[in-house]
Amino acid sequence: MGKIWAGRTDGQVNKIADDFNSSISFDSRLYKEDITGSIAHAAMLAAKGIISKAESDLIIDGLSGILSDLESGKLQIDDSAEDIHSFVEQTLTSRIGDAGKKLHTARSRNDQVALDLRLYLKNETDEVKAKLKELINTVCDKAETYKSAVMPGYTHLQRAQPITFGHHLMAYAMMFLRDAGRLTDAQKRLLISPIGSCALAGTTYDTDRSFEAQKLGLLSPCANSIDGVSDRDFCVELCSALSLVMAHLSRFSEEIVLWSSWEFKFIELSDDYTTGSSIMPQKKNPDMAELVRGKTGRVYGDLIALLTMLKGLPLAYNKDMQEDKESIFDAFDTVKRCLDVFSGMIKGLTANTEKMLTAAKGGYINATDLADYLTKKGVPFRTSYKISGEIVAYCIKASKTLDELTLDEYANFSDVFENDLYAAIDLNTCVNTRTSLGGTCVQSVEKQIKDVRDRIKDI
Ligand code: ARG
Repeated sequence: MGKIWAGRTDGQVNKIADDFNSSISFDSRLYKEDITGSIAHAAMLAAKGIISKAESDLIIDGLSGILSDLESGKLQIDDSAEDIHSFVEQTLTSRIGDAGKKLHTARSRNDQVALDLRLYLKNETDEVKAKLKELINTVCDKAETYKSAVMPGYTHLQRAQPITFGHHLMAYAMMFLRDAGRLTDAQKRLLISPIGSCALAGTTYDTDRSFEAQKLGLLSPCANSIDGVSDRDFCVELCSALSLVMAHLSRFSEEIVLWSSWEFKFIELSDDYTTGSSIMPQKKNPDMAELVRGKTGRVYGDLIALLTMLKGLPLAYNKDMQEDKESIFDAFDTVKRCLDVFSGMIKGLTANTEKMLTAAKGGYINATDLADYLTKKGVPFRTSYKISGEIVAYCIKASKTLDELTLDEYANFSDVFENDLYAAIDLNTCVNTRTSLGGTCVQSVEKQIKDVRDRIKDI
């Protein structure tokens, strides 16, 4: 295809430079948004009397035909076009003649590409939110199943206090809920229309930018034409929100890898979400979790690429900005695939509740409860803490757990201990007396599940 801008030069670009300059290989995915934007633009031009109604109808019919032919496969995108905008405009003119040449009145590729990208990312963001919703639902289902399964909670990866697996899972549901909220918030700034900013300065035609914004389902036109064509904050914001999605998936992945190891064996992944080894017949590897953890680096890389591309760019449009697309597309593609695989993996996960309980019985994770027992009987907490620590040290030497010590042995440390101490340090008691808001007791986990399920209705 020739160049839409041939005139000052003959448009003959050196082959290597032309390939380097071309974006069609990655912006062709914007074809639908490009056509939708152009249809709204043609309608506005006619509504304002800038082109005739007949010309606008021809353009709109032509564009609709291009869209359906692209979707049916009757029309192929020509790789020799400079970008998707040129391809659509040139195809239109080749189909409908001179009327096609009027479409680019009162616009520029600079506002056009900014519009296309916003429209495309609007759908992508909706898709990611729907996938997050699916994952949150899946996590809530698992949390419901395991709301009373006792396991050790960790700090510093050292056994710390007893929690339930359901409570632990719900921590991830909260993260994903915030992720969805961040995307919704970013959408408020994404859904602003740059079209009509033209090259940078606005236009001498009597256009109606609000008409176009409304037709395209956007909230309002941007207020400054220079900002309209220069702004890529929305890519950075979205990529930043996606980076946090990946951070959360990656932390979850790490735990899945740990939990499915022989050292823990807290969970079993379903066979269809694991792989084997080419040499070690016994292996069942958690590759999906590892890949998600690995792909997190890609999305962070996309974010840094976007931020660095924008840093130091003078206003208004610069060709550097063509580099926005591969980064933001890659971030969305990666996150969508990771969310799909994650939901499937979590659905098929089963917990080895016996193993979890056995682990919870080791490591003296009820030592805080022992201290709290004394404190509730009037011993100041710092003193209770010291006594309990000494008891743990004694137990370690004697190779006993806290509930294996006799009352006589306890009496050596404090005369406050009575027979009811055993009930107080029972792991189920430890879990179910943590009734504080957001705590680990079963009712609290049930409430968290209910609240999250209510809140995802608004995603
Ligand atoms: N392919 C270009 C991009 O993605 C479209 C805008 C071209 N504008 C220009 N002034 N050359 O940014």
